[in-house]
Amino acid sequence: MQIGSVKEIKKHEYRVGLTPSCARAYIADGHTVRVQKFSGIDAGYEDDEYKEAGAILCDTAEEIWGASDMIVKVKEPQPDEYPLMKENQILYTYLHLAADEMLTKEMLQRKVKGVAYETVEMPDHSLPLLRPMSEIAGRMSIQEGARFLERPQGGRGVLLGGIPSVEKGKVAILGGGVVGTHAAKMAIGLGADVTVLDVNIDRLNYLDDVFAGRVHLLYSNQAHLELVLEKSDLIVGAVLIPGAKAPHLIKKDDLRKMKKGSVLVDVAVDQGGCIETTHPTTHDDPVFTIDDVVHYCVANMPGGVSRTSTQALTTATLPYGLLIAGKGLEAAAARQSAIARGINTYDGKLTYKGVADAIGMNFVPVGDLIDGVKI
Ligand SMILES: NC(=O)c1ccc[n+]([C@@H]2O[C@H](COP(=O)([O-])OP(=O)(O)OC[C@H]3O[C@@H](n4cnc5c(N)ncnc54)[C@H](O)[C@@H]3O)[C@@H](O)[C@H]2O)c1
Repeated sequence: MQIGSVKEIKKHEYRVGLTPSCARAYIADGHTVRVQKFSGIDAGYEDDEYKEAGAILCDTAEEIWGASDMIVKVKEPQPDEYPLMKENQILYTYLHLAADEMLTKEMLQRKVKGVAYETVEMPDHSLPLLRPMSEIAGRMSIQEGARFLERPQGGRGVLLGGIPSVEKGKVAILGGGVVGTHAAKMAIGLGADVTVLDVNIDRLNYLDDVFAGRVHLLYSNQAHLELVLEKSDLIVGAVLIPGAKAPHLIKKDDLRKMKKGSVLVDVAVDQGGCIETTHPTTHDDPVFTIDDVVHYCVANMPGGVSRTSTQALTTATLPYGLLIAGKGLEAAAARQSAIARGINTYDGKLTYKGVADAIGMNFVPVGDLIDGVKI
């Protein structure tokens, strides 16, 4: 297959779809890889590394879209890229079509085979291509929270780990899923006093086993929330209710119960946020302050650590990518239901129910279009 990787053109996107070692893996399987010049530069990959891996370097994105059977990207195509998509081309990337009717219509009209990272789903409902980004965002939430707790950054001047003669900083994490667990690991590592709240008792039991007494675990209800609001230096919002907006666990009036200069990191901002006063921010201008509480609400936190994120993402995407390239999308989807679930558009039809429902369009099960596919 002809595989292509282009430079991401979405604002503040520094990741890249293929690393030089991914390019090497596709080439070793007999495929041809084209990479746009400078596409890896913001993730720390030089053109020479791609060349050494055996990739063909191209000056323009147009050349790559034109020559490729499969484009491996990070972000959904931007309007300038729409005309470059072509019939039967496989587009393997984050798509988030439920929030983008215009792109959905373009992909259907152009009969692009769209495989969305965010809907590649294992039989146990886990999302292997979203998980690494949650892990990174969880770990970053403590790093960023610690930074903004510093007085010159607007925080209350608390060192999370303290030192042996002074109190430790207090961290509360709302939601003990993937983000919350990784936030807890980092906070414990820094020596903070950590509390995790969740509504899922099984999850609380799991965290109790994993952290073996190193975190306080509380059921997430109003009384416990008020307790952590008053005590915490840093609160991380890491709640998710699948398919729904995040609940506003912290209301505007609650901010007055918090310490002056404390920090809220709302990782769930990409699902509407779990703090009433949240609005999405960017890495350029990550924080704002309301009622003396610093809010950090960057919607694409992993973008800030583009090298780590690129390595984590491509490690997860490569095995599916190799299978699609080796067998063709149809046979790969028949073999692995995770790939079949990833298919959002195929032959001009919308094949992912959640997207069809969100934008009010017709849905055709992918199993009706591709022989041997069962979801
Ligand atoms: N900002 C970013 O860059 C970024 C990056 C990755 C993920 N995210 C977001 O982070 C959020 C968490 O993702 P995840 O992968 O950890 O999800 P997850 O499903 O693994 O965990 C969510 C947890 O929230 C818990 N929960 C639900 N309602 C709750 C409540 N009322 N109180 C306390 N806990 C509650 C669930 O039981 C679950 O354990 C999602 O909104 C995700 O989109 C953001």
